[in-house]
Amino acid sequence: MGKRKKQSAIKEIVDLSKAEEILDHYEGVRGALIPVLQKIQYEYGYLQEEAINLVAERMSISASEIVGVATFYSQFRLEPRGVHMIKVCCGTACHVKGANKIAKEFSKKLDVAVGSTTEDSMFTLEEVACLGACSLAPIVTLDGDVHGNLVPDSVGNIIQGTGKHGRSK
Ligand code: FES
Repeated sequence: MGKRKKQSAIKEIVDLSKAEEILDHYEGVRGALIPVLQKIQYEYGYLQEEAINLVAERMSISASEIVGVATFYSQFRLEPRGVHMIKVCCGTACHVKGANKIAKEFSKKLDVAVGSTTEDSMFTLEEVACLGACSLAPIVTLDGDVHGNLVPDSVGNIIQGTGKHGRSK
């Protein structure tokens, strides 16, 4: 068998073939930037720098303009998702019942801004529109599981429930 050298030292090469296909599909279509970015994010999980540069080149838009669009719309992500995805509902019912405080508590406990991923890539914290369980407001989903009727003190238990983190702040 051939020698297997350490691969960790080798920079990960991003396969942009799917992004190329998406761009081919939208070639010459006016106003296609948003759907292109949506599809690329769907494929890759986020909009990595290499993909943004490719879109910039192919659509003759500057990379900084694309980043501007991506940061304007909360649906876009410029960094990879964490192992665990926390979605804090900020729909009307949840907002009225203190969703803000819940989001702040997650942010504080995980030391991460809303819309970002923790440095150790364990958690991504997002705010989302109504998740359709308003009777349980305020709610949060963790990896798709709903946690309802929350108060800020519930947050620590939810994080601990992942079994991965013993953060306490
Ligand atoms: S507003 Fe949060 S579930 Fe509807």
